[in-house]
Amino acid sequence: MQPSDMLELIKSRRSVRHYTGRPVDDQAVQMILEAGRWAPSGLNHQPWRFSVVRDADLKQAVAELTHYSRVVRQADMLIAVFIHQPSMYNPVKDYQAMGACLQNMLLMAHSLGLGAVWLGEILKNADQVRQVLGLDEELELMAVLALGWPQDRQYSPARKPLEELLVPPKPAA
Ligand SMILES: Cc1cc2nc3c(=O)[nH]c(=O)nc-3n(C[C@H](O)[C@H](O)[C@H](O)COP(=O)(O)O)c2cc1C
Repeated sequence: MQPSDMLELIKSRRSVRHYTGRPVDDQAVQMILEAGRWAPSGLNHQPWRFSVVRDADLKQAVAELTHYSRVVRQADMLIAVFIHQPSMYNPVKDYQAMGACLQNMLLMAHSLGLGAVWLGEILKNADQVRQVLGLDEELELMAVLALGWPQDRQYSPARKPLEELLVPPKPAA
């Protein structure tokens, strides 16, 4: 892959919230999980855990826990991403690693032509999501990824210009 292709992949990824209903095959899911698994983490602690949700009743139960219930119901599948608390050693670094993991998964989904959105709003009901999925208390929900084949091209949310983001160092005189 050329560096410009990499940048294009990053820039063309969009949060996708409408799906066709066409099933996402297991091989694609495996690749998305692999991309998450290979994220960097502090001391290589790899604190992520993944719960793949395809079952319609479970999906419905998760949908009831978020404002984005339509997205969850329409998605072909969900990947609930948790941090494994016993694997943590430094909250800031461990949560940063989770962000890297989630972005890897989004980029992999995009490169496969799939649509995905990172659902964070559902964290208001993090414990209930974990309970609905029947998982241990040592797992803390970080996000739910909704995945499916994209129904339409998404608008492109603006980004701040780079000049606004650069904060040049000001060495003390
Ligand atoms: C931590 C985090 C939480 C998010 N939570 C939600 C959410 O609950 N629902 C949603 O539709 N999108 C959610 N998003 C997606 C953002 O709205 C989206 O990434 C942002 O508007 C930029 O759009 P883009 O992803 O298409 O570039 C979340 C993204 C992040 C990183």
